[in-house]
Order: sequence, then C-alpha cells, then structure tokens
Amino acid sequence: MDTRIDEIADGIYRVSSFDPNVAPPAGMTFNQFLVLGDEPLLFHTGRRRMFPAVQAAMARVLPAERLRWISFGHYEADECGGMNDFLAVAPAAQVAHGQTACRVSLDDMADRAPRGLADGEVIELGRGKRVRYLDTPHVPHGWEAGVLFEESTGTLLCGDLFTQLGAVPALTSADVVGPAMAAEDAFRFSSLHPGSGAAVRRLAGLAPRTLALMHGPSFAGDGASALRALADDYDRRIRAAA
Ligand SMILES: [Fe+2]
Ligand SMILES: [Fe+2]
Repeated sequence: MDTRIDEIADGIYRVSSFDPNVAPPAGMTFNQFLVLGDEPLLFHTGRRRMFPAVQAAMARVLPAERLRWISFGHYEADECGGMNDFLAVAPAAQVAHGQTACRVSLDDMADRAPRGLADGEVIELGRGKRVRYLDTPHVPHGWEAGVLFEESTGTLLCGDLFTQLGAVPALTSADVVGPAMAAEDAFRFSSLHPGSGAAVRRLAGLAPRTLALMHGPSFAGDGASALRALADDYDRRIRAAA
C-alpha cells in the first residue's frame, strides 16, 4: 500500500494510504492529518498495522517523535489502531479526546492517561494554530464520536463524515455530498438518529473552508453548504425509515 503526504491547508498535512482491498473494486483511502505548531497534533493514527507506513510518510514533514497530541474521530482501528505505537515513540505525546471516549475506552486502552476534552474546549497548538473539540455523539457513528476544528485555517477534521470510496486526489473542489450519499447507500455506516441532522448543521455553523475527510479527498470550498446538504440527506433518510 502506497502512503503519501500532501499539504491540504496552511500547515495541515494529509497522510493518505489507498487500500484497494477495502470495498473492491473501488477501494478506499485512509487518511491521517498532521497539524503543525509548537505542539504538533495528529488526527487519526491509521490502523495498527499501518503504523510503520504512516510514521515514514509523516517523517517527510515532522518526525513522529515530536508529536504532542494524538486525537481521532472515534474509537475504531482505522482511527486509532496505531495510538500506542505513536505514544511509544513520542515521549511528550498525549491522547486528547472527549470525555465519553476517555471514560468508555481511552482511560483503559491508551498506554498513558489521555486528556479529556469538554465539548467546545480548545487546545492551543502554537504558531497560530488552535483546535476546538466538538462532541458529535453517534455522528456518523460511535457514542464517543467527535471532531476537531482548526480555527486559523477553517479546517474541519471531520472523521468519517462524508466517507467516499475510490482513489481520490488529496484536495478537490468537486462535490463531496453525492459520493457520501452513495457510500451511505452501500454501507449504512451512519448511526442515524433523530438528532443526526441537527448535529451536522451545528458543524455548518463553523463555516469551514476545508473539510478534511478521513476516507476521501479533502474538500476546499463552502463547507457549510456541504454540511447542510449532508444534514438534509440524513433527515430524509430518518423520515423515510420512520
Ligand atoms: Fe468509523
Ligand atoms: Fe474511519
């Protein structure tokens, strides 16, 4: 599997591996995001077995040893399987996640105690970078789910939201809602509930200029419109199911 690294916003890098064996024949990308700063942050670690490839690709921009923060959307192998490998090589690194993730999984599963973040809490990364943590329980899945918003670049690290299949470019301005609806049709990966649309509309209020998708390209453009369209699609699906 080939792992590449591209800058998708000022000081934010996308480490991407394309796995043709996931959902063949289309395949799927698995992306981690490195936010530079005095206290560099990695959002998603990749699966545990991907750790050497992610570490090597990342090292072209920043050695993993210098990481200060490790965060991710929710507790699953592709989001955080490499968490303890990163903690082992980066002595100053600490996992940061919402209170639910810490209490349910990370207090036990992370090799060092995590930092539990309140909904809306900010971590100052230095050099102008600051990330705000937002709880999104069960959106798109996982009780502990959350996202990070890097405020200086307007980049929403949106995890599995907008998941799409295929080998994709690092950065696009093309539609990301249609491909996400197609992936939802195929996999039903979202734990849709009556509050799902509202949770996504709340993120639209951030007016992100870049959406950093875990599975897909990064999207440069009107993030609020894309999020509202995704929320509308969730609402349609929930109404249809009811
Ligand atoms: Fe997931
Ligand atoms: Fe994922």
